[in-house]
Amino acid sequence: MPAPALVVLGSINVDRFLTIAALPRPGETITGRSAAVRTGGKGANQAGAAARLGCPTSFHGRVGDDASAAQVIADLAATGCSVAGLLTAPGPTGEALILLQPGGENSIILAPGANHVWPEHVEFSQEFLRDLGRSSGLLLQCEIPQRVNLAAVAAARAAGVPVILDAGGSAEPLSDELLAGVAVLSPNESELARLTGLPTTTDAEVLEAVRTIQTRGVDLVLVKLGARGALAVPRHGRPTHQPAFAVPVVDTTGAGDCFTAAFAVGMSDGLAPASRLRFAAAAAALCVQTAGALPSMPDRGMVQDFLGKTGD
Ligand code: RIB
Repeated sequence: MPAPALVVLGSINVDRFLTIAALPRPGETITGRSAAVRTGGKGANQAGAAARLGCPTSFHGRVGDDASAAQVIADLAATGCSVAGLLTAPGPTGEALILLQPGGENSIILAPGANHVWPEHVEFSQEFLRDLGRSSGLLLQCEIPQRVNLAAVAAARAAGVPVILDAGGSAEPLSDELLAGVAVLSPNESELARLTGLPTTTDAEVLEAVRTIQTRGVDLVLVKLGARGALAVPRHGRPTHQPAFAVPVVDTTGAGDCFTAAFAVGMSDGLAPASRLRFAAAAAALCVQTAGALPSMPDRGMVQDFLGKTGD
C-alpha cells in the first residue's frame, strides 16, 4: 500500500436494514418488506468511498471482539482501503438499525459499541501518527467520542495536515477548540441548524448560519442540501452552489458520506473548487442509486463516465 493521501479516523458499523412502508407509531408492530445486513459507519463509508475513488486511504478505528468484526473489516479492505490501523476493543462492534422508507429516506438508531471504547486519555498508535504525517488530509466524523476527534485535530495540527470534519453522527455540540482546528466543516442542513441554533430552510438562512459558525474558526463550510445540492462557503469569498444531479433514488444511506469523501479526494488531487463540488455531487448521485452504505460507493471510472454523460 502506498503512503495514504487521506487518513480517516472514525466509526465502522454493522448496518441492519429494514425496508418499511412507514415508521411505526408508539406501541405498534409493523411487518417490514425486506431485511439486509451490510457494512457501514460514517468513518468506514468515507474511507471506503475515498479508496474506491482511487485515493490511497488508511482507516483507523475500532471493531469489537465479536463475530461481526471479521466481515466489516473484510468489506472495508475490499474497497482497497488500508485496514491495518483497525484495533479490537472488548465488547460488540458498532451497530446501526436503519429503517429504510419509500423514496430512499432513512431513520437510523445507533449502538456505538467499540466505536466508543477509547481510553479517557487518548493516545494514538504509531501507525496512525505515521500515516497522518505522510498524508495530505485527515477526515473525521462525529461517531467516535469528541475527545478523540479533539486529540486527532491536535495531532493533525502538529503534522501540518488539514482536517475535514463531517458533522454527521452525535448530536453533542462541537467545542470551539475542535472547530478552531478544522479547515473544512461539512454539515447537512439539519446538522447546521443544530450546531448554530438557527433556521436553515432557505439558502439565505443557510448562509447566515454558515457565517455564524465561521466566526468560530472554520475556513470552508460545505453544506449538503439533499435534493437542493450543496453549497461551499469559504470564510473570505463568495459561496458556490452545486445543484444535485437528478437520478432515481434507491437508498440515501451513506450519500452524505460519499459526498464528503469525494470532496476530500478532490482536495487531495488538487481539483479546482468548482470541479471538486461537481465530482462530489456526481459520486453522491451514483451512491443513492444502490442499496446500502459502504456497498454503494462508486469507483472513479463510474464517476468519470457519469460526468462524461452530463457533458463534463
Ligand atoms: O451515514 C450513514 C451511516 O450512518 C450508516 O452506514 C450507519 O452505520 C450510520 O453510522
